[in-house]
Amino acid sequence: MPDDLFRQFGISEAQIQHAASLLRQGKLVAFPTETVYGLGANALDADAVARVFEAKGRPRTSPLIVHVGSPELVSSVAAEWPQQAQLLAEHFWPGPLTLVLKKNPIVPDIVTAGLDTVGVRVPAHPVALALLAAAKLPVAAPSANRFTQLSPTTADHVKQGLGSRVDYILNGGPCTVGIESTVLSLAEAKPVLLRPGGITRAQIEELIGPISTQSEPTSAAHPSPGMHPKHYRPRTPLLLVNDGRLPERGRGVYLQLNHPPMVATAHVLSMPRHPGEYAARLYATLHDLDQAGYDWIAVDSPPDMPEWEAVLDRLRRAAER
Ligand code: TXA
Ligand code: MG
Repeated sequence: MPDDLFRQFGISEAQIQHAASLLRQGKLVAFPTETVYGLGANALDADAVARVFEAKGRPRTSPLIVHVGSPELVSSVAAEWPQQAQLLAEHFWPGPLTLVLKKNPIVPDIVTAGLDTVGVRVPAHPVALALLAAAKLPVAAPSANRFTQLSPTTADHVKQGLGSRVDYILNGGPCTVGIESTVLSLAEAKPVLLRPGGITRAQIEELIGPISTQSEPTSAAHPSPGMHPKHYRPRTPLLLVNDGRLPERGRGVYLQLNHPPMVATAHVLSMPRHPGEYAARLYATLHDLDQAGYDWIAVDSPPDMPEWEAVLDRLRRAAER
């Protein structure tokens, strides 16, 4: 495996071992997953996890996802393994699906924001799996960005966003899925979709039947796990538009999907028509446009259809001011 890692991603066995030993010392390591880069810490070390919250500037009310190297290791952090979890894991792990399960008391409260559940997933990126195998630890990792900012899909994004707040970055190239994992709770009587993401609702329902959706939290008093309305924002104001209608003032860029722009002067970027390809490009595009200093980014709204659910969720949050 290390040889393959080197050939595919330019990552050596020595780098993996170094990163793993930093994790064991309570340090922070950013690493690639198939979704976005994670900011990892030993999930069983409360002080290390506290540093993750500090580095991100993230409120401690927002729980972290714990990454493990295989489904068999879930029992090291979760107390239950329902039949539905088994089915979902067989189909979608390693992959962009996080399962929320009753927690094992060994997991420090800071990881789960005091909840009695824990979010856990097996990531699909070979570099992440090599790191988890070498560290022999469950690794708590939120996306490796400052709170409310865009998630990173390259090592450069991590460097730009977190700088010296992270002890080490494993550069495994660009992430292929490009948006965060789907978060599904199996800790209630019925499965609840907490965040749409890399695995679609339809893919899950095909396997375990109908799932419900958590309603949006309405106040800061209940910053319901991670579904913060202002997550995933670029610095440049972003607006969702229909029929190509663009702002008349300022210098802007239009991310076109289906509708040609009504204003001829805007800079136009064509986005992929396929939701998966669109997702893979979205954050990288927004990171680039943030550097370019436009007054606005107008996004041709994708259709309100099931296959666009995760992309639309991110765009709506990005448009929130
Ligand atoms: O794709 C991903 O999931 C990336 C990579 C690094 O794995 N991670 C990520 O982490 O997006 P973060 O911290 O940015 O988002 C974690 C999400 C939040 O929506 C959080 O509320 C939810 O997972 N979550 C974690 N533990 C939970 C729990 N016990 N109950 C409910 N939601 C939970
Ligand atoms: Mg995040």
